[in-house]
Amino acid sequence: MKLIEVTDHEEMSSIASSYISNRVRKNSHLNLGLATGGTPKRTYELLINDYKNNGTSYSYVTTFNLDEYIGLPKEDVNSYHYYMNQHLFKYINIDQKRIFIPDGLSQNIELECKEYEERINAHGGIDLQLLGIGANGHIGFNEPGTSFQSDTHVVELTPSTRIANARFFDFIENVPTHAVTMGIASIMASKEILLLVSGEEKSQALKRLLSADDPTESFPASILKTHPCVTIIADTKALKDLNQIKASPTNHMI
Ligand code: F6R
Repeated sequence: MKLIEVTDHEEMSSIASSYISNRVRKNSHLNLGLATGGTPKRTYELLINDYKNNGTSYSYVTTFNLDEYIGLPKEDVNSYHYYMNQHLFKYINIDQKRIFIPDGLSQNIELECKEYEERINAHGGIDLQLLGIGANGHIGFNEPGTSFQSDTHVVELTPSTRIANARFFDFIENVPTHAVTMGIASIMASKEILLLVSGEEKSQALKRLLSADDPTESFPASILKTHPCVTIIADTKALKDLNQIKASPTNHMI
């Protein structure tokens, strides 16, 4: 894994957006895996700026989102369909037919999971997957204990993840209890992974990810250590626990 240490959320977002737009410029047919949540919002804003200012084209880019809540209509402000539209898709020239997000309202959710996985494979797999990380080490909605062999599947959200995500809802009771997520194996099949980590609340998780410990299903992100091409961009707050041991910001391989 390559670690890029940056000062703050803004610098993380700026480097992430350049990283992604460079990949899109190099490969107009890029298959791009996308995440939601607080971490990538500014990155998406900067991608929109880049689209407006530099004309980076998304017309042949295909996107696959990591996850979606079960039970929320696409128009619901808390659905990930809505999030992606509001924060990225409606501002760039992406072809609607090339946008894939799991359908959390499917009448046959098991079939939806199977077909989502097949859709990714039929497109030749994900070239670059953008990831955030949960304080408990989840990636996508793959909570601790998820099999490293898992494909796209239904998950029951842990109380800690529902509490963390309650900030976007009026009441915690409104946070869905289940979601569809790409599995750990689906994420690991991506050719390249870009993990963004920002803020003090992620500091323990980042320290654990960068530790020498073997991958364990009790800390899902730890599997990333075995992926051949992972770049982590982390800000000073997220690096707090790690930097107690070492000095100034730098880029290095782990
Ligand atoms: C979102 C996702 C999650 C988030 C993680 C961090 O699609 O898959 O794994 O990346 O929960 O969320 P934030 O960025 O809100 O801290």
